[in-house]
Amino acid sequence: MPPDPDPLEGARERLVVALDLDTPQEALAAGRDLAGTVSRVKVGSRLFLAGGPDVVLRLVDLGLRVFLDLKFHDIPDQVAGACARAASLGVDLLTVHASGGGAMLRAASAAVGEAGAARPRVLAVTVLTSLAEADLGVLGISRSLGAQVTGLAELARASGVDGVVCSPRELAALRPALPSPFLLVTPGIRGAGEEAQDQARALPAPEAVRRGADLLVVGRPVLRAPSRADAARALLRQISESLG
Ligand code: C5P
Repeated sequence: MPPDPDPLEGARERLVVALDLDTPQEALAAGRDLAGTVSRVKVGSRLFLAGGPDVVLRLVDLGLRVFLDLKFHDIPDQVAGACARAASLGVDLLTVHASGGGAMLRAASAAVGEAGAARPRVLAVTVLTSLAEADLGVLGISRSLGAQVTGLAELARASGVDGVVCSPRELAALRPALPSPFLLVTPGIRGAGEEAQDQARALPAPEAVRRGADLLVVGRPVLRAPSRADAARALLRQISESLG
């Protein structure tokens, strides 16, 4: 008899644990705690500067898919080179800034395309959630924050990018304009009553899924839990329930 299907498999596709740790040793220990429970982890600048490409390769060796979140923003040729190098590490997702413009986004998309079937998907960061409406004026942007997020997300899609990173509060506006398979990836996930830390506009995981998030990025609530695997499994159960 074939084994029973894993009831958390669909949810596992939706969760990314952010390995926001300072050393490759800590990140690999967390990777070992989580491998077998989650399928995907995120490596940001903090860990990448400590562990370099080697930490990415070692996480891939643990059987984890890696989301490389280095938010490239440079002239198209530089970004294309960086995306091609990221693809050669076997990462599954990577980020660029949508505000780098259409030519830069097209260069990123074309560069990963050369990796063939194993190509990473490119996500664009629209407006950093640390920025408020008032900050946009100082940057010379006159449209509202919501219009800026939607405009940059539409530019990303028109430029061949696979999805955007957005706040859970932006999902309701973006999902109808940018249907699947365009990916909406959201950090800022916190359970009711859970400490928000610096996430000012957080939502619980099931609510983010209901609003149309494809992937949820969760860091500290998993990393700081007494058992990381148990905390990740609890999130997977919640996601699974909201997927129905
Ligand atoms: O620890 P926490 O769950 O808040 O981690 C969220 C992750 O998502 C961090 O890696 C953070 O850099 C990232 N992120 C975010 N807000 C954004 C974009 C990325 O919190 N707008």
